[in-house]
Amino acid sequence: MTPPILEVSGLGIAFGGLRAVDDLSFRAERNAVTTIIGPNGAGKSTVFNLISGALSPRAGKVTFDGRDCTGAPPHRMRTLGLGRSFQITSLFPDLTVFENLRLASEVLEPRSRWLLPVSRSPIALARADALLSRFALTGRADELAGALSHGEQRRLEVAMAIAAEPKLLLLDEPTQGMSHGDTEETAELIRSLAADLSVLLIEHDIGLVMTISDHVVVMHQGRKLAEGAPAAVRADPAVQAAYFGHA
Ligand SMILES: Nc1ncnc2c1ncn2[C@@H]1O[C@H](COP(=O)(O)OP(=O)(O)OP(=O)(O)O)[C@@H](O)[C@H]1O
Ligand SMILES: [Mg+2]
Repeated sequence: MTPPILEVSGLGIAFGGLRAVDDLSFRAERNAVTTIIGPNGAGKSTVFNLISGALSPRAGKVTFDGRDCTGAPPHRMRTLGLGRSFQITSLFPDLTVFENLRLASEVLEPRSRWLLPVSRSPIALARADALLSRFALTGRADELAGALSHGEQRRLEVAMAIAAEPKLLLLDEPTQGMSHGDTEETAELIRSLAADLSVLLIEHDIGLVMTISDHVVVMHQGRKLAEGAPAAVRADPAVQAAYFGHA
């Protein structure tokens, strides 16, 4: 049987006296959307930092694509197939949409071509073109990324995050600050990504979490409070009390 794309077990890190992530275990299955929810400061982004190698765990284990990757540095995780997009916008505002995508796709070229002119990066150019049409940005290809609407910029960020063809994509609050319409569009986009890759999402919009997640992990004060199918998690009394405030 193929192992899950990601498994963390007993994961822990502390900042001073604060146990930001404490004995956390969960799995993310392949071609699924797994969502981490929890109040502000619950430790969600820290979990992403521990998985992506930005931070090394004090305890526990990270298994990615069947391999023990505990404490592996970010570049190693990227090479193994981990993609990430940030809470803070990560595109190059002074480059065109096409250039942003072409740069993000450059890693697909064999190393021997990395120092050659752009015109000799056929794989990256083709990938950038494919991403333009998949993310409905073809008409915006020559615009500066900084001139796009907020929704378009978020679409471009997701496109850049999958440019290198990651096996698992980490998305930290991709709909933050979006209008309702843009949020719905992004939800569909994320859902469609699961056809070719696996998604680990952090999201505050509970409506969106319920509609797009296959599996939900609830965190509270660094620990796992509950996990399961969206409806089961929402009905869990402990989750209701700690997270929804009996709403
Ligand atoms: N590098 C760091 N140094 C010290 N404390 C940190 C660091 N990173 C996070 N923390 C603290 O760890 C706790 C968890 O933070 P984290 O950013 O993981 O929460 P979060 O669940 O992502 O919250 P939010 O929903 O607000 O994004 C917080 O109390 C935060 O202040
Ligand atoms: Mg966060």
